[in-house]
Amino acid sequence: MPEQTLAAAVRGAAERLAAVGILDPLVDAELLAGHVSGLRRGEVQAAIIRGDTFDGAAAERFDALIARRAAREPLQHLTGTAPFRHLELAVGPGVFVPRPETEIVAQFAIDALLADAAPAPIGVDLCTGSGAIALAMATEVPHARIFAVELSAEAHTWAARNTADAENLSLVHGDLADTLEHLDGTAAVVISNPPYVPEGAIPRDPEVRLHDPAMALYGGHDGLDVVRVLSTRALRLLRPGGLLVIEHGELQGEDIRSLLTADGWRGPATHRDLTQRDRATTALRP
Ligand SMILES: C[S@@+](CC[C@H](N)C(=O)[O-])C[C@H]1O[C@@H](n2cnc3c(N)ncnc32)[C@H](O)[C@@H]1O
Repeated sequence: MPEQTLAAAVRGAAERLAAVGILDPLVDAELLAGHVSGLRRGEVQAAIIRGDTFDGAAAERFDALIARRAAREPLQHLTGTAPFRHLELAVGPGVFVPRPETEIVAQFAIDALLADAAPAPIGVDLCTGSGAIALAMATEVPHARIFAVELSAEAHTWAARNTADAENLSLVHGDLADTLEHLDGTAAVVISNPPYVPEGAIPRDPEVRLHDPAMALYGGHDGLDVVRVLSTRALRLLRPGGLLVIEHGELQGEDIRSLLTADGWRGPATHRDLTQRDRATTALRP
């Protein structure tokens, strides 16, 4: 391809992405331009103002990435990373891309670990996917001991890569229903962002429908199959007074509070995200 100014390349790419309904086309175009040139987004914006150019090879790489993004491959699969709180996680096919709303949900667990009087409070992340929540807990509460469980072999491989350097984090490949039994009665916090989409509710965005693994999305007929198992398992894992944090869909708060109350949990409470939608429910182990 001929040499191109960064300004023209990014402008053209943003128009192409807007035409297929990408939500933030300019952001995606700038981030992919940064991926090609090894620059952060702010540096791309500065390079545009300076009048920098893409040489032919860079223009070609950028064009190929924009074509894939226009075909609705997730941005994070193209860059190979997803931001989560202060972390940059490696992601790609086979693992759920961590979402901004989960950053807020993780805060409940982090706050509870920080407030715990134990010298090394135990935090458990069931359904860890890329390891996002577990690694946030391990790095933001370095005196805590964190355990993470993931059932999918592919997702577990991504989590292993992301958590390899965290000495206070143990990752287990298994089913949340019957793992970590040696921890029963000891955990200060159990957190989970389980699969919770009802089987019939196929996600609208192709990035989710076609690229997030089915095991990460669907939770049976009413979406709560894994939540029911999680409730039973977390009751055994937590010590009395320990905190359960569950992320869920915006219409599931009431059903989850009823389910937790029926299982004997104390004070189930549903919390909203920044868009004012119900996003997480917490409860205390009696
Ligand atoms: C919605 S994703 C959440 C991933 C990550 N915690 C996050 O917030 O980005 C749910 C994850 O749960 C895993 N999973 C589903 N059923 C499971 C089970 N029974 N035991 C352990 N992990 C499970 C899926 O493979 C997927 O990685």
